[in-house]
Amino acid sequence: MNLIVIGTQWGDEGKGKIVDLLSEDADYVVRYQGGHNAGHTIVIGDKKIVLHLIPTGLLQPGKTGVIGNGVVINPEALLQEIATLCKENIDVSGRLFISETAHLIMPYHQRIDLESEKTKGKQKIGTTGRGIGPAYADKMARNGIRVCDLYDAERFREKLETNLKEINLILEQVYQVEAFDPEDIFKEYLVYAEKIKPYVLNTSLLLNQAMDDGKQMLFEGAQGTHLDVDHGTYPFVTSSNSGAGGASTGTGVGPTRFDEVLGVTKAYTTRVGSGPFPAELTDQMGETLREKGGEFGATTGRPRRCGWFDALQVRQTVRINHMTSLALTKLDVLDGIPEISICVGYEVDGKVLDEMPTALSHLEKAKPVLRHFPGWTESTYGVTDYEKLPKNAKTYLEAISTLVACRIDIISTSSKRGETIVLRNPFTDK
Ligand code: GDP
Ligand code: IMO
Ligand code: MG
Repeated sequence: MNLIVIGTQWGDEGKGKIVDLLSEDADYVVRYQGGHNAGHTIVIGDKKIVLHLIPTGLLQPGKTGVIGNGVVINPEALLQEIATLCKENIDVSGRLFISETAHLIMPYHQRIDLESEKTKGKQKIGTTGRGIGPAYADKMARNGIRVCDLYDAERFREKLETNLKEINLILEQVYQVEAFDPEDIFKEYLVYAEKIKPYVLNTSLLLNQAMDDGKQMLFEGAQGTHLDVDHGTYPFVTSSNSGAGGASTGTGVGPTRFDEVLGVTKAYTTRVGSGPFPAELTDQMGETLREKGGEFGATTGRPRRCGWFDALQVRQTVRINHMTSLALTKLDVLDGIPEISICVGYEVDGKVLDEMPTALSHLEKAKPVLRHFPGWTESTYGVTDYEKLPKNAKTYLEAISTLVACRIDIISTSSKRGETIVLRNPFTDK
């Protein structure tokens, strides 16, 4: 069984919690895109762990974690994360593997990311400032430096010198900041190269062999489909394919090997960073959702923008990824809200649309057409049995499932591992 788990909105849907839960039945957990822009929160007992680059499955003992070729790796951040886990008595040696063809985030990528955002002013993307965009840009422009390049010192030095000839000009003359000395980066990265060497291998080979041996595989998406560089609200997106398609190109596993796509969705919507958000609530209700849901970024700490559940957005996600089921999180956050709404259409220039428009100008002026649902006063916090949910909560869940045309397999009612309603486990129930 090969399962892809993706975010269906603009990230932070609770993928970490759901992947951690499902990892119990997986042998391998694989990251296929993004980098340490991701922040996946896992709560085990009283302990909260936020993972950025390391596959969530590694928190479960005996599981193997893989960072695929589609991920961009900042080796310093990776080593820090390994050290943090070590302090928690989670040893990843011998069970974490990194693709030799993954691209590296270099110090100049982060500098360009930050400077470019400053230059854009009001038009800024609101990136996480981790150098993600410039690292993927270099990959596509064929200037990228891959993990395997670190082990051919002369070639690595040459690439670095060539890249910096151009980049230093931009840094000094366009952004008017200090240039980088290739020798400093060379020395710094050779130290990382030695430290990460035990983890590096041909992960495509490893994964395909594991599948041949009948292992259970979970492919862990970062971000969400509406941050996908091809399918998201471009240009307010990240720079990778965060949808299910990325799982194939980002790991070297052929598309016909995947069995199911589970999409994680919040019971409402959030977004960090800039970009259109038709169902956004800028009033007291938005504030209530942010406070009750603890909606502050796991990577940057920024307050998340909040809004009602957007059925057009998630229906599009279901279609693009040919999703097989949904995991709905944070139902408990809606407890006690007298009336809950779902965005079921966009009004643009007096016309009601039932599909998300692609043009940014349309998305920016879209007004949400809302359908209202009565709330519930009972607490759903920590509920593990569907039958124990209030009637109005069930009605709300059924409406979501119908509107987005996808079955719900999992309902999460708290941040804790066990506090979940599992109607169907994709690994163990057919
Ligand atoms: P990810 O990036 O998709 O993994 O999500 P984040 O970890 O960035 O953000 C989700 C937040 O919601 C985290 O703080 C989780 O601990 C929390 N969370 C996940 N599921 C639930 C839930 O069902 N209820 C509540 N109250 N919190 C949840
Ligand atoms: P997880 O995996 C939410 C957003 C940034 C910004 C845009 C581009 O935790 O769901 P980038 O640094 O990637 O160039 O920023 O994408 N973004 C996320 N938003 N969750 C994430 O990851 C995100 N990763 C990037 O806020 O709007
Ligand atoms: Mg997150």
